[in-house]
Amino acid sequence: MSIGFFDSGIGGLSVLREALTLMPHENYIYFADSVNAPYGTKTKEEVKALTFNAVRFLNERGIKALVIACNTATSAAVKALRQVYDFPVIGMEPAVKPAVEKTKDAGKRVLVLATSLTLKEEKFQSLVAKFDSRHIVDMLPAPRLVEFAESFTFSGPEVDSYINEILPADIEKYGTLVLGCTHFPLFKDALKKALPSGIDIIDGNRGTVNYLYEVLMGSGLLNKSDIKGRIEFYKSGIKVEDDETLRKYEMIIHTSG
Ligand code: DGL
Repeated sequence: MSIGFFDSGIGGLSVLREALTLMPHENYIYFADSVNAPYGTKTKEEVKALTFNAVRFLNERGIKALVIACNTATSAAVKALRQVYDFPVIGMEPAVKPAVEKTKDAGKRVLVLATSLTLKEEKFQSLVAKFDSRHIVDMLPAPRLVEFAESFTFSGPEVDSYINEILPADIEKYGTLVLGCTHFPLFKDALKKALPSGIDIIDGNRGTVNYLYEVLMGSGLLNKSDIKGRIEFYKSGIKVEDDETLRKYEMIIHTSG
């Protein structure tokens, strides 16, 4: 059976590429809800309903585990999904804890870049309340990065000027930038270019995939085969078969993040 991956669009490919490095022998089925993206500017109820639709679709195809490779959908639906489905459901979580740990003693602050919905949801608020005892965490939504990504524009003057426009003027006071949306690692080069050299950029992708591995291992669900697995892509329920789109997806999952 395959591992299901779900995102509002192509952001989850940044998580899938980590999974392929660690577990190349697994089969994957990736659902990009690009027709309904972005999720980050929708209501929690809308995102929950769209997520349930996508997961129903994946479940009908038979999956042994599910990665909600979307911070926004995780905040809106992960608890409810776990009550309905028997397979392991792995969600995303902005890397606030490691960011605070590595930044707090350097006298610097942490900036979390995520969608508006993720930032205002209870899940994120309680994560910050738990780990940010020194109040060094600030938040910034970046909705246009999701739009740029969905049109496969990851660099160029428009992306650069948007990033420069939204970054705080006193950016020097930050030690770590947390990418709390799976679309954002696709802009690592553009972000690096815009940021002062001392700022680390971190995301939760590796941690999520390590956790997926542990869960599969612990439940005896890892694929024993030593043949490279296959990946099937669906865009909002329609199988992606055109070469142009497949080529773009493949480029993302085979580029190091
Ligand atoms: N990739 C998603 C996330 O990790 C959401 C992007 C969007 O659709 O707004 O939050």
